[in-house]
Amino acid sequence: MKAWMRWMLWGVGGVLLLSAGAVAWGVMRSDQRLARKITQPAYELAVPGGDTALARGRYLFASRGCAECHGPDGAGRPFIDEPGGGLYARSPNISPGPGSVTATYTPADWERTVRHGIKPDGRPLLIMPSEDYSRLTDADVGALVAYVRSLAPAAGGPAEFRLPLPVRVLYGFGVIPDAAEKIDHALPPSQPVPEGVTVEHGRYVAQMCIGCHGAGMSGGTIPGGPPDWPPSANLTPGDGSVLPRYADTAAFRRAMRTGKRPDGSAISSVMPFQTLRALNDTDLDAIRLYLQTLPPRPAGQR
Ligand code: HEC
Ligand code: HEC
Repeated sequence: MKAWMRWMLWGVGGVLLLSAGAVAWGVMRSDQRLARKITQPAYELAVPGGDTALARGRYLFASRGCAECHGPDGAGRPFIDEPGGGLYARSPNISPGPGSVTATYTPADWERTVRHGIKPDGRPLLIMPSEDYSRLTDADVGALVAYVRSLAPAAGGPAEFRLPLPVRVLYGFGVIPDAAEKIDHALPPSQPVPEGVTVEHGRYVAQMCIGCHGAGMSGGTIPGGPPDWPPSANLTPGDGSVLPRYADTAAFRRAMRTGKRPDGSAISSVMPFQTLRALNDTDLDAIRLYLQTLPPRPAGQR
């Protein structure tokens, strides 16, 4: 064998060994990251009683994504099942029925899970987008808890995942952050803003879009999403914005409820239309108003 060939073989072998090492390290780190304990002091959350709070809780459960992932009955269900050994995720039972993971939850446990992405034992949640809920007001988290606790007991079990190797490795290396890492835990809870078609209320509701569209709302690759998911759209008025398509409120409402653009083409079903369909006119119109006031960013900057 010629000397240069031998060197090349050594080189290739070395690279392969190094990358196998990196993968093994990433997998080990991902297990450690999932097992890490995060301290978050207990928050005294008031859980309201009464029909108004229950009705608000029911609306939030349907329109903020809880129902789409956990099922309308809260029993938990597979909500991502990519073929060919791709990502699979089954949400846990959060209803008061058999196999519920919330059976011993205190109000402080609910608050920590929903607003901080941290389980009662201090471990991080992995897939649930708590960053979308971290700015929910006390009243809204309280109403959600009141409603979920009032659900009929349904049977279910704990969460189940199948994470493809690249996702585990990228999570291990910290390239894919979990919700607890994205949330600023030191921020005091949001103060309530009156419901109405205003920029402030729009900003409040649009928190549920940031997990996918990014904190700056300019969209891009969704971290941890399967490879066949399209990048999320630019919702700011910057380059590549989709806003010009939604110059009137009716077009925007229709798109969010039907999953169709004004030209009739389908928007990817990665957009959670089952959830968005539940948003009322006030919330949708307020979101649209708020998006128009965002600082323009080029598409894909998250
Ligand atoms: C995108 C899907 C998704 C959405 C939306 C979602 N969840 Fe979850 N939820 C999950 C998954 C998956 C888990 C399992 C924990 C994890 O993510 O690792 C979970 C776990 C939980 C847990 C139990 C945590 C534990 O102790 O193990 C609670 C409570 C919960 N969710 C409540 C809610 C509420 C309330 C909402 C709506 C405000 C909501 N979830 C929205 C997917 C979702
Ligand atoms: C689970 C991830 C996810 C969430 C949550 C989400 N989106 Fe999207 N959104 C996407 C993806 C992916 C696309 C790109 C769809 C495509 O290219 O077909 C998109 C596209 C859009 C579009 C462009 C439609 C068009 O004309 O092409 C609008 C408008 C939009 N989203 C608004 C929102 C708003 C408002 C929210 C919150 C209320 C939201 N999205 C929440 C993933 C999401």
